[in-house]
Amino acid sequence: MDAEIIPGLAEAADLARAARRVVVLSGAGLSAESGVPTFREAQTGLWERYSPEQLATEDAFLADPELVWSWYRWRARLIRSCPPNAGHLAVAAWQRRLAANGDALTIATQNVDDLHERAGAEVLAHLHGSLFDDRCADCGEPAAHDTGTAPEGDAGSAPDLESMLRVAPPRCAVCGVGVLRPGVVWFGEMLPADALANTLAALEQCDLAVVAGTSATVQPAASLPYAALGAGAAVVEVNPEVTEFSTAATVHLRGTAGQVLPALVRAYDGHHGHHRSD
Ligand code: APR
Repeated sequence: MDAEIIPGLAEAADLARAARRVVVLSGAGLSAESGVPTFREAQTGLWERYSPEQLATEDAFLADPELVWSWYRWRARLIRSCPPNAGHLAVAAWQRRLAANGDALTIATQNVDDLHERAGAEVLAHLHGSLFDDRCADCGEPAAHDTGTAPEGDAGSAPDLESMLRVAPPRCAVCGVGVLRPGVVWFGEMLPADALANTLAALEQCDLAVVAGTSATVQPAASLPYAALGAGAAVVEVNPEVTEFSTAATVHLRGTAGQVLPALVRAYDGHHGHHRSD
């Protein structure tokens, strides 16, 4: 049934059946079906409604730490209220299957949410950091407590910055000088070196990479799929839209992650005699 729905799914299913070392590179689109807004989609994207210069740079934080801190608290609350979707669950299941067969599925995500982990998967790299990994803006020490756990108030709809509840970032409990900042990578900042190096190493050794839910516009993450292609691996792109990467992909599956990824796992299961419900 699946193969007929999305052109290329049969070819991708063949690749999924044969793959032993898979890398999943995920972006905001993977979490869209969980209710987490993406960044660049018309009308709904965060950068369609807010200015990244005002909210997602170090200068913005230095200029108005309360505004930036409060906005990221709102995003943390929103994500805490969103469940993993069928796409996250399929990736976690595929990871378990491959591990059970002595193979491996590695996840590197641009997403600052924890939906992969809440779906039961292990994540090698959060390339753009995490909303639940605050640290001191001065000494760099991680927050003593999980500030993401109890953000006050419900997530509600996207706040108007003027009327948004503003809270000051807490003082660092370690150095006592700096204040906490969100543990995300802001525009103009370097990606965590280990995360990038580990992801590149995994891509250079994989036999299949699956690029799911990214517009492939933000560097250096947008160049990562080419490392897999350069190493002779196949790359399957999952995105309802055509992206900057689509023409280079081995197979572009024009569908949602929640629809396509479970189909790829079913294909894998079919071949490996797994007739399991999860
Ligand atoms: N399934 C799969 N893909 C989807 C879905 C879905 N259900 N819904 C939307 N998409 C696709 C869109 O078509 C788009 O190509 O997901 C992509 C989301 O693109 P962006 O909003 O640009 O998100 P992303 O590529 O992850 O952004 C990269 O930019 O703002 C920074 O640091 C931020 O990590 C982020 C980076």
